[in-house]
Amino acid sequence: MDSLQLTFLLCLTQVFSFTKCQLQNITSCNSAINFTSGSIFPVNLNLTLASLVANASISGFATSSFGQDPNTAYGLTRCRAYVSKEECQTCVETAVREMQQLCPSQKEAFILLENCSLKYSNQNFFSTADSSSKIGYCNVVKASQPALFQSVLLSLILNLSSSVILSPSRLVNSSAYMDSKTIYAMVQCTPTLEVSGCSNCLQDIITYMLTGCNLNEGSRILSLSCDLRYEMYPLSLTYSPTPAPSPPPLSSQYPLPSGSNSTTNSTSPSSNGNDFLLQ
Ligand SMILES: *[C@@H]1O[C@H](CO)[C@@H](O)[C@H](O)[C@H]1NC(C)=O
Ligand SMILES: *[C@@H]1O[C@H](CO)[C@@H](O)[C@H](O)[C@H]1NC(C)=O
Ligand SMILES: *[C@@H]1O[C@H](CO)[C@@H](O)[C@H](O)[C@H]1NC(C)=O
Ligand SMILES: *[C@@H]1O[C@H](CO)[C@@H](O)[C@H](O)[C@H]1NC(C)=O
Ligand SMILES: *[C@@H]1O[C@H](CO)[C@@H](O)[C@H](O)[C@H]1NC(C)=O
Ligand SMILES: *[C@@H]1O[C@H](CO)[C@@H](O)[C@H](O)[C@H]1NC(C)=O
Ligand SMILES: *[C@@H]1O[C@H](CO)[C@@H](O)[C@H](O)[C@H]1NC(C)=O
Ligand SMILES: *[C@@H]1O[C@H](CO)[C@@H](O)[C@H](O)[C@H]1NC(C)=O
Ligand SMILES: *[C@@H]1O[C@H](CO)[C@@H](O)[C@H](O)[C@H]1NC(C)=O
Repeated sequence: MDSLQLTFLLCLTQVFSFTKCQLQNITSCNSAINFTSGSIFPVNLNLTLASLVANASISGFATSSFGQDPNTAYGLTRCRAYVSKEECQTCVETAVREMQQLCPSQKEAFILLENCSLKYSNQNFFSTADSSSKIGYCNVVKASQPALFQSVLLSLILNLSSSVILSPSRLVNSSAYMDSKTIYAMVQCTPTLEVSGCSNCLQDIITYMLTGCNLNEGSRILSLSCDLRYEMYPLSLTYSPTPAPSPPPLSSQYPLPSGSNSTTNSTSPSSNGNDFLLQ
């Protein structure tokens, strides 16, 4: 990814200002690998993108590929787990349109939008974690008890991070109680990532959160391969979390401070509990 030329399109200096920054997005076109018009690659690419648009909102995630090497076009899209199927559909359509306008002749490109991410390439990247570009949205309200808040929040997020790598859907949620309030959180990785890729991605976005967004009463850190979000109200997830069989403890490292307690409430796999599994 180092060779990708990043184009930060909006609000770069205000990434942590949720209210001022609703429309920010990040687009990257890899200008080192272009295709020529009339070649087979753009035909494969259009088929791949059309398939992503057709399938994404069903489970909030889709991969697709068309063509023979070296002209195969690989595509992947993922919606944030808390957006509705309609918003997911709209977002993926927007992502494809933006890509076609902004990266008209590139074999490799990605876009991060508020409600979804999309990437395509002439290489198979489905199991490669990428959190090099991030969007952070933070609630402007600061927590009233910063030290306690940060400690409970970090414990909650780290617990979720250790659960999500064992979750088949790579999506888990949980809550923790402190100071008469409840923090609700979720973490999500691209389902095609290996454990190490998911784990590295989350470490990166958690570190990013800690640089400026961890004392706010809510934030979303979004990247190509993983997301985290917490709020002081329940997160309604459109795409069902599937909990790990038995979440591993992190207790010795991150004990919960006295005066707080927590409830992990991952939903059990329901009738549509395999929503996030790769088709
Ligand atoms: C993404 O950024 C471009 C350039 O500023 C802007 O024209 C476009 O409306 C943005 N798209 C979305 C979906 O926010
Ligand atoms: C690819 O195309 C872009 C313009 O779309 C151009 O700036 C760039 O130099 C091209 N790259 C190569 C390797 O030809
Ligand atoms: C791919 O789709 C775009 C947008 O609809 C269109 O402009 C372009 O001509 C298509 N390319 C091919 C090779 O079909
Ligand atoms: C995805 O879309 C393609 C058509 O573009 C279709 O053939 C395929 O069955 C779809 N997959 C799912 C899981 O809906
Ligand atoms: C993202 O989805 C939310 C609803 O979940 C919607 O309010 C918002 O406008 C969407 N963002 C964009 C840029 O469309
Ligand atoms: C994190 O997990 C440990 C071990 O299961 C538990 O003791 C602790 O309460 C959890 N923390 C939060 C905030 O959920
Ligand atoms: C997890 O998400 C599901 C689906 O939205 C919800 O029913 C459940 O209450 C959530 N659990 C927590 C702890 O927020
Ligand atoms: C634990 O949380 C419940 C609410 O879920 C609250 O009623 C109870 O007082 C809390 N216990 C402690 C020790 O904070
Ligand atoms: C956990 O989820 C179940 C089923 O959705 C719900 O009945 C229960 O109240 C939830 N508990 C907490 C603490 O959110």
